[in-house]
Amino acid sequence: MLMSVIIVLVLIFAFRTYLRMTKQMCDQNVSMVGRVVIVTGANSGIGFQTAKDLARRGARVILGCRSVDRGTKARDEIISVTNNKNVVFKQIDLSSLRSVREFAKDIIETENELHVLINNAGMFSSEKSYTEDGIDTVMQVNYFGPFLLTRLLLPLLKKSQPSRIVNVSSIFNLFGTINFKDDNHKSFYNGILTYCNSKLCNLIFTIELSERLRDTGVVVNAVHPGIILTNITNGCSNLLYRVGFAVLCWFNNLTDEDGAQTPLHLATSDIGGNATGKFFINCSESSLVSPKTRNEVLRKKLWEHSNKLIRFDESSVQL
Ligand SMILES: NC(=O)c1ccc[n+]([C@@H]2O[C@H](COP(=O)([O-])OP(=O)(O)OC[C@H]3O[C@@H](n4cnc5c(N)ncnc54)[C@H](OP(=O)(O)O)[C@@H]3O)[C@@H](O)[C@H]2O)c1
Ligand SMILES: *[C@@H]1O[C@H](CO)[C@@H](O)[C@H](O)[C@H]1NC(C)=O
Ligand SMILES: *[C@@H]1O[C@H](CO)[C@@H](O)[C@H](O)[C@H]1NC(C)=O
Ligand SMILES: *[C@@H]1O[C@H](CO)[C@@H](O)[C@H](O)[C@H]1NC(C)=O
Ligand SMILES: *[C@@H]1O[C@H](CO)[C@@H](O)[C@H](O)[C@H]1NC(C)=O
Ligand SMILES: *[C@@H]1O[C@H](CO)[C@@H](O)[C@H](O)[C@H]1NC(C)=O
Ligand SMILES: *[C@@H]1O[C@H](CO)[C@@H](O)[C@H](O)[C@H]1NC(C)=O
Repeated sequence: MLMSVIIVLVLIFAFRTYLRMTKQMCDQNVSMVGRVVIVTGANSGIGFQTAKDLARRGARVILGCRSVDRGTKARDEIISVTNNKNVVFKQIDLSSLRSVREFAKDIIETENELHVLINNAGMFSSEKSYTEDGIDTVMQVNYFGPFLLTRLLLPLLKKSQPSRIVNVSSIFNLFGTINFKDDNHKSFYNGILTYCNSKLCNLIFTIELSERLRDTGVVVNAVHPGIILTNITNGCSNLLYRVGFAVLCWFNNLTDEDGAQTPLHLATSDIGGNATGKFFINCSESSLVSPKTRNEVLRKKLWEHSNKLIRFDESSVQL
């Protein structure tokens, strides 16, 4: 309990100066006609606003959501407000490796092109739990699931180049650590730290993948969308965390739409098409990345570790 209070207070003070940081609007006029885009977690919050705006710009938008109800409702709403009928829902549960594989297989079989993949889905929890694959749920939804999805969709992204991968990471990456021995936190668990770790993994992955994708026409970048009162703490049963987060958001006073601007900037702008391996906040490149991301040995080790944990056979995917 004391630990939690301290963590919340440190975070509030650490981020006070950055609270109003993400107000910049992305260029509203870039057309996305003829582009095929996947947004995961597109039924709520930042993902919903991102998907809606891409539909408004004329893209074919695939909403990857875990709930059929919420996914089809979001699809219908986006179609009705944007008048773009080229918006489809496909089911994906990022906490299941099987579901991720099925989703990717469906996409590969039914789509001829894929220009933008936005790994937006994410969650926060204060309780430890495990997925059907035996991995920490938050780590799998925020990192291992999108890792597998990205790897499986890479051949299609490469074929459709120039193409882009946008990862919704977080400024919380700064507080993350990587622990290969106990990445399921069997001995000690704190929801905030696990969230930080998952977002650090995202960022390390973004950088490692960008290196591996040099000169392939596929770029990959990560963003911090802003601190925003979305449904991200819905699954969190710790009242202190929920209140602490709500206070941060209240200071910040940003909407879901504001939060969508930096992902949209990377998905649509020339800058987003040319940058790779970078972290963006407020529609601008940011250096608020953990020093751990610069450790090449660590990056390679995490890559191998992730392959092993999700039983991903590199040779199985034709690149
Ligand atoms: N809000 C912030 O302050 C903040 C700050 C930094 C980074 N972020 C990141 O921004 C991203 C979007 O979050 P948000 O704030 O917009 O929260 P949100 O409103 O809760 O949206 C999260 C989305 O992810 C989906 N999702 C959760 N678990 C999933 C699973 N197992 N499989 C598939 N989809 C799943 C949710 O679906 P359901 O509706 O079915 O739950 C929802 O559509 C996340 O990656 C988050 O970490 C947010
Ligand atoms: C965010 O972008 C806006 C618009 O360019 C700028 O006015 C503001 O100073 C930026 N905020 C920070 C903290 O960089
Ligand atoms: C966007 O387009 C509208 C109308 O086509 C124009 O009035 C506006 O100035 C443009 N905005 C920018 C930022 O280019
Ligand atoms: C958040 O969740 C509630 C119920 O769980 C839902 O009614 C609401 O529409 C969601 N908010 C957003 C922005 O999706
Ligand atoms: C971020 O990027 C890497 C590489 O594209 C991907 O494998 C990783 O899982 C992504 N994570 C998220 C949450 O977007
Ligand atoms: C919060 O944002 C709303 C809409 O963006 C604005 O009208 C209001 O003045 C803001 N409040 C504060 C305290 O900045
Ligand atoms: C890179 O930027 C230039 C203009 O600065 C633009 O013409 C080009 O299309 C961009 N590349 C990509 C892949 O978006």
